[in-house]
Amino acid sequence: MRKICIIGSGHVGLVTGACLAHLGDSVTCMDDDFKKIEILRQGMIPFYEPGLEEMVHRNMERGRLAFSTSVEEACKNADIIFVCVGTPQKPGGGADSLYIEAASKRIAEVMDDYKVIVEKSTVPVKTGKWIRRTIELNSHNKCDFDVVSNPEFLREGKSIDDFMHPDRVVLGVDSQRAADIMIELYKPLNAPIIVTNIETAELIKHASNVFLALKISYINAIARICEKVGADVLQVAEGMGYDRRIGQDFLDAGIGYGGYCLPKDLAAFIHIVEEVGCDSELLRAVQRINDSQQELFVKKVEEALWNLAGKNVGVLGLSYKPNTDDMREAPSIHIIEKLQEEHVRIKAYDPHAIENASVILRDVEYCQTPYEVAEGSDALIILTEWDEFRKLDLAKVKRLLKQPVIIDGRNIFDPLQMKQLGFVYQGVGR
Ligand SMILES: NC(=O)c1ccc[n+]([C@@H]2O[C@H](COP(=O)([O-])OP(=O)(O)OC[C@H]3O[C@@H](n4cnc5c(N)ncnc54)[C@H](O)[C@@H]3O)[C@@H](O)[C@H]2O)c1
Repeated sequence: MRKICIIGSGHVGLVTGACLAHLGDSVTCMDDDFKKIEILRQGMIPFYEPGLEEMVHRNMERGRLAFSTSVEEACKNADIIFVCVGTPQKPGGGADSLYIEAASKRIAEVMDDYKVIVEKSTVPVKTGKWIRRTIELNSHNKCDFDVVSNPEFLREGKSIDDFMHPDRVVLGVDSQRAADIMIELYKPLNAPIIVTNIETAELIKHASNVFLALKISYINAIARICEKVGADVLQVAEGMGYDRRIGQDFLDAGIGYGGYCLPKDLAAFIHIVEEVGCDSELLRAVQRINDSQQELFVKKVEEALWNLAGKNVGVLGLSYKPNTDDMREAPSIHIIEKLQEEHVRIKAYDPHAIENASVILRDVEYCQTPYEVAEGSDALIILTEWDEFRKLDLAKVKRLLKQPVIIDGRNIFDPLQMKQLGFVYQGVGR
């Protein structure tokens, strides 16, 4: 049985560890957050991800998945070490590689024979070279090792399916030995495997995420035109998406993208592009459109309510997207804070993100149901497209609202039907 060590047991590390254990490997997930490891050892998951808790449980019971706070213990006899630590955004926009460096140093100190060290975190191009250099400089035993770039493309909320059925596996290698080991590891997934050099693999990840951000900003720019000329952005997107060169995905107009990946990866990529002296104008426009999408939404709320001060606004959805409790860079944060600056009182409901939201957003009345949010509100705003909201009893919502106003940042309802039900309803780009 292959032995695998995962350093950094967050969204990516834990899913990678659980899925590899599911495929039959013996995995130890390590994290330097003692509390997180304690929770995991008790068979609980420190965040919401459908199906993950069951998978972790099953593999712990089968003795294939263990947790540790010690790099030494986790790396002992491991053939492959995955580095899945965070790469947050620095104030200047670049990616902070401090955690990658810290993990590399610890690996160097404990390594006692040949290892494949896999960079799975999203990192700036050339990080692989820095990992190699750091390990060479800090290695106690001077053993042989290889660095591989194997970027992760999973989406929170669908992580397990994405990991088990990837569109492709990207492997950036500089040795055949490491390539063979990694190809063997991913064989059970039956996915296309792209083997390339480390810099190319690193760039594939950043270029992919930035392209996804670009698609969202593009459709949001189109949405603005739709509103001016009386077109419907949903139908424009549908009509565009049938073209296989374009595709249907990531053409949802709304309040913009958020989360742990797209905003920071775009900022990091802009930093890289400008550092190497290339033109970042297109990338900066993507960022600008996304930022202003939330400002425009707040303006819509103002247009619907006339004066904002003293009004009660009910918020449905806080997480940056459905099926996750992740609040990192959620558009809801900016929108709620903007409304609060205008002295709006906020009530909010989210099926899973209230605990995380309450750490970030102050002076919000958190509710147990969407109906509690609607009760007595001057308007309802939809910020995350949870399925639960599509199934609301709208007649009941209308009765509970002070006035029947819904501003929908995720276009989950049909404007015509909403009008027939007696709502003043405003989506994005329709
Ligand atoms: N979240 C996603 O959807 C996603 C998808 C693809 C790629 N990524 C990338 O994967 C990386 C990890 O993202 P995440 O969402 O899993 O982050 P996360 O914050 O959920 O997890 C990172 C973990 O690393 C741990 N850590 C930090 N430094 C450590 C160290 N020196 N030793 C041991 N543990 C350490 C932290 O305690 C934390 O638990 C990032 O580069 C991210 O951009 C994320």
